[in-house]
Amino acid sequence: MHSFFSPTTSSGDAKLDVDTLPGNDRPSRARRARMPLIVGGIAIIVLYHVFHSVFVPGCTARSTPLSFGHLNTQSVCPQEDVLTPTKNSDMWSRTNELYSTQSFRSRAVRRLGEAVKIPTETFDAMAPVGEDSRWETRQPFVDHLAMEYPYTHKYLELQKVNTYGLIYTWKGTDESLKPLLLMGHYDVVPVAPLSVDQWTFPPYSGHFDGENVWGRGSSDDKSGVIGIMTTVETLLELGFKPTRTIVLSFGFDEEAGGYHGAGHLGPALLERFGPDSMAMIVDEGSGFSESHGAIFAAPGIGEKGSVNVQVDIQTPGGHSSVPPEHTSIGMLAALIVHLENNAPVPKLTPNTPAFLMTQCLAAHAPSMPYSAKHAILHADKSKKAMKIAEKFLFQDGMIKALVGTTQAVDIIHGGVKSNALPEQASAIVNHRIATQSSVKETIDRDAQLVKALAAEFNLSVTAYGEHLTPLGAPAYGTLELTAPQTLEPAPIAPSDAKPFKLLAGTIRAVFKTARADTLDKDKEIFVMPGIMSGNTDTRFNWELSDHIFRYGHGNMVIGGLNGIHTVNEHISAASFLEMITFFTTLILNVDEAQL
Ligand SMILES: *[C@@H]1O[C@H](CO)[C@@H](O)[C@H](O)[C@H]1NC(C)=O
Ligand SMILES: [Zn+2]
Repeated sequence: MHSFFSPTTSSGDAKLDVDTLPGNDRPSRARRARMPLIVGGIAIIVLYHVFHSVFVPGCTARSTPLSFGHLNTQSVCPQEDVLTPTKNSDMWSRTNELYSTQSFRSRAVRRLGEAVKIPTETFDAMAPVGEDSRWETRQPFVDHLAMEYPYTHKYLELQKVNTYGLIYTWKGTDESLKPLLLMGHYDVVPVAPLSVDQWTFPPYSGHFDGENVWGRGSSDDKSGVIGIMTTVETLLELGFKPTRTIVLSFGFDEEAGGYHGAGHLGPALLERFGPDSMAMIVDEGSGFSESHGAIFAAPGIGEKGSVNVQVDIQTPGGHSSVPPEHTSIGMLAALIVHLENNAPVPKLTPNTPAFLMTQCLAAHAPSMPYSAKHAILHADKSKKAMKIAEKFLFQDGMIKALVGTTQAVDIIHGGVKSNALPEQASAIVNHRIATQSSVKETIDRDAQLVKALAAEFNLSVTAYGEHLTPLGAPAYGTLELTAPQTLEPAPIAPSDAKPFKLLAGTIRAVFKTARADTLDKDKEIFVMPGIMSGNTDTRFNWELSDHIFRYGHGNMVIGGLNGIHTVNEHISAASFLEMITFFTTLILNVDEAQL
């Protein structure tokens, strides 16, 4: 997963005060959710946080189904039946049998460890492949795959794109069927040299301590790439012949935006297969987690967009002994205060992924306060209910961030000398754009806000190449807004279509049959639409399918995803093995499904 700039810290100390909610008729103790410090602005973490904070209020569990007047919660967020292979049932049983053996488990874990040992670090602003020698760390990884997965390399066609991008094609017997595309990335976030001492095991050790595999990439996303490769190799070993073609696409610079890897793989796939050619696409993403009696999986059906808006102010310089009332730094400061005082207001919007997610939570989480459930389930019908629902949900900063467009002033520059007036001052505002909004709406909003204030300082304003103030009119200085790199929110995959339903049924099947944790075996998993707040390589594959999901089945109940983008990244071996079962079941289910 790629978070746009340096990681943000999210601690789980969110405290909810549900007592203030109208209509809350039962005593509730706001408890503090304890969870490890997690770093990285990604959906997994967001969801993890959501699960561990929304439901924190101690509230007596109420047995489902609940009925809210005319609303029966069973009709909200209906759950798919467990879906196991039928035509491929024999193959599925054989894989499950194999996966339960110690020899398979050791081998899978060793494979992940070996992959972690190859430090495929991605840095910002790397020069093209061939010019920047730092890409060369990829070759040993590519060679390693060839050595470790002989059947895959014998029976699948491998196309290399921009040297290190990998497309494997496993031809199905029926070429009229749209392929399944599985994605991943094998690059990793660099390990900060000063943080090496803080690692329990060296970051590129791939050490297995009997429970966890340690090291950079063990979770993000070598568990995905190695999980998929191991699945394919195993299916080949067992003699599986797919009916539907399976395509694997592995990028090598996702952690810096994917421009050199997926940015070339996407067009290559498009050229080869054409638009709308894939039955469904599954890339790295969230997993599942427990909260107060309910377990939720949240495949990302969308991704927030992003844009960095740069604000530059230029004013005449001079000796600071005869200063104007405001320097460019003072003006910039006022602008930033103005932006922060007028931050975008998140709006829970019906029919958005975030809204669907809250419906599922309200329908299936037994310990969410009754008043909050009631409000959330009526939010699309009553303004009052919407207000209460938003008030409840937005007490959690993470939900608030998922629902709306966010802004954060992350960089500021200005001034060079203590006795010289600053001729320039600049700031960068990072926005993550709500799925229901757009780049244009976001940057236009900033332009309107700064324009209003610029008049006060007698600045001429240029926003994204357009003059907002009369050209040539006298002004004391200039204010310019630019937005060089933009990413629209991803198209939303329909959650009522066959591919999502197949994915949901598969998740429920894997949870039921191949669960490694110590939870009550009768526990059910609820699948709901999710959103990535960060971005994935799928941004380059929008044209290939309407059905793009970000999901890897990481088991967060037992610590499936830890230390992503920070020290001590590790993954529990049990979770990694569950991921392999997930990829296996997905491939077999998709193979026999009509999509
Ligand atoms: C803005 O600044 C210019 C240049 O210093 C000056 O000519 C003009 O009168 C100023 N306008 C206002 C409204 O102060
Ligand atoms: Zn990743």
